[in-house]
Amino acid sequence: MRTFPIAVFLLGLIFTCGCDRRQKITFTENDISVIPKPKELELRDGAFVFNSETVFVVTGEEQGKIAGILTRKFRTVAGWEPEIATSVPSGNYVAFRKDDSLQDEAYKLQVAENRIIISANGYSGFLYGLESLRQLLPAEIESPTLQKDITWAVPAVEIKDSPRFRWRGLMLDVSRHFFPKEYVLKVIDGLALHKMNVLHLHLVDDQGWRIEIKKYPKLTEVGAYRVDKEDMHWNARPEPKPSENPTYGGFYSREDIKEIVAYAKEKGIEVVPEIEMPAHVMSAIAAYPELSCKGEPVMVPSGGVWPITEIYCAGKESTFEFLENVLTEVMDLFPSKYIHVGGDEATKTNWESCPHCQKRIKEEALSGVEELQSYFMKRMEKFISSKGRVMLGWDEILEGGLAPGATVMSWRGIQGGWEASEQGHDVVMTPVSHCYFDYYQGPQDSEPLAFGAFTPLNKVYEFDPVVDSMSVKQAGHVLGGQANLWSEYIPTTSHSEYMIYPRLTALAETVWSAKEDRDWKDFTSRLEQMFKRYDKLGINYAGSAYTITADAEVDKNQNITIVLGTEFPDTDIRYVLNDGDLSAARPYTGPIAVSETTTIKASRFEDEKPVGKSL
Ligand code: ACM
Ligand code: ZN
Repeated sequence: MRTFPIAVFLLGLIFTCGCDRRQKITFTENDISVIPKPKELELRDGAFVFNSETVFVVTGEEQGKIAGILTRKFRTVAGWEPEIATSVPSGNYVAFRKDDSLQDEAYKLQVAENRIIISANGYSGFLYGLESLRQLLPAEIESPTLQKDITWAVPAVEIKDSPRFRWRGLMLDVSRHFFPKEYVLKVIDGLALHKMNVLHLHLVDDQGWRIEIKKYPKLTEVGAYRVDKEDMHWNARPEPKPSENPTYGGFYSREDIKEIVAYAKEKGIEVVPEIEMPAHVMSAIAAYPELSCKGEPVMVPSGGVWPITEIYCAGKESTFEFLENVLTEVMDLFPSKYIHVGGDEATKTNWESCPHCQKRIKEEALSGVEELQSYFMKRMEKFISSKGRVMLGWDEILEGGLAPGATVMSWRGIQGGWEASEQGHDVVMTPVSHCYFDYYQGPQDSEPLAFGAFTPLNKVYEFDPVVDSMSVKQAGHVLGGQANLWSEYIPTTSHSEYMIYPRLTALAETVWSAKEDRDWKDFTSRLEQMFKRYDKLGINYAGSAYTITADAEVDKNQNITIVLGTEFPDTDIRYVLNDGDLSAARPYTGPIAVSETTTIKASRFEDEKPVGKSL
């Protein structure tokens, strides 16, 4: 395994140049671990060293905000803060330069010994240039405390970079478990570090309504709370009784939402709200039972409900009035171009037997309940587009006919995205196969409880939002990709981080970097440097990719060998047989032949010591 003690390395290469009293520092390409990998990077001679005299040169408030992201970090870790100024000094500065020849989100980062220039056409590009600069600095820049004896050196480089896709997202399900605003802000910081630009908030589901709506206060008074059965498996939680007190829950106030949206904007991230319909809405029906076909009281469920038969009535006009009022308030709070309306997994049995719904089917000459969902979604799309926004929905919105201006989020695989793009609709790819971060990322017996499927880090790294069978025209409709973190099995923020990182790091590279630059070995070595940043940022990332797995192989002569491995190509694995102690472990160099019952004890080693979980 490659470890790179940057401080030691720097000391080894510092020498004093006769003509200049500044320290001369040399880097090699191995010292550069920017994620996602930039499109073009050329290493030059020398380095720029930040010190208390360094100045950030900005034009306007926006550039000042971006500069502040890094200057505040210096205040924390170095004890001094570079000045933010408007005029260019003779040297030792970082300047932002507007370059209209660059595309949206593209940037150029030129680091020379006496100055750094970040060029872009606007906010996002400047921000991404700064984020790359941040990743060129020693990992100690991320520390929450003062760091001693660090040379804040950045290699002289020229980077030209731009994203492959314009939608680079993460969905947080804040309904199944509620996560406080402060955590959402921390996730936004993590997204910004990876040049991700969409945070999709799944604000509504059966188990909780999580956004304050002024016109319908019971949505949060009633819909945001459920009877606490957190000590039980999600799918074993009994139906709550009216005598039980709903104590688990929470919601974001309008002020919280404004703060999240503004914070995200500053970090180049658009927050896309999802207001589910017509199913996954027991929390809303618990608050306002008249929204359902039967109008009977229900309670917010404490855990899993399947199939989900509770559904908004598509026959009553009052349902649409309610949803339009809710969406009006939502659009007031979220300036996003896209408004997500869910649309997934609706069981339509109640529609089959509801007189209102049947009347609607007849009056609108619909073929049945499938087309009734299509009617429902088309109405919502008309409303949303009348407000100048774009409706986004899960791929079920294709069924029974897709609304004209809708964008599709393809989750049950890539098929929905393929079909929608063929019909000329934009799509966001988020297939369960690569993008569902609620799935296990390591062997089940060494991981916290998760949804029973497997998406390890290297699988995420294989994600491609565009598939070979798409035409050029279809590929042009693929906005990008997104990871989804459903939270049925994720009760805490630290657990949430564990599921997000480092899979998000892999996903970020798949949606930003050029496909031909995809290189697993190179990625993992950069990721190990990123882990140092996560450590300092207090991010609880999973080390699952280091978990040692053992596979038995039997040849044609019945000889058995055991193959040990981890997801990281160069892991230093050492092992002992039977009762041996790991302190006497020998390096694993290839399959271990076994001819009798044998116990193998193995561990990953770092600096000659066993680390992580042993096998
Ligand atoms: C989904 O996973 N039900 C969109
Ligand atoms: Zn109905």
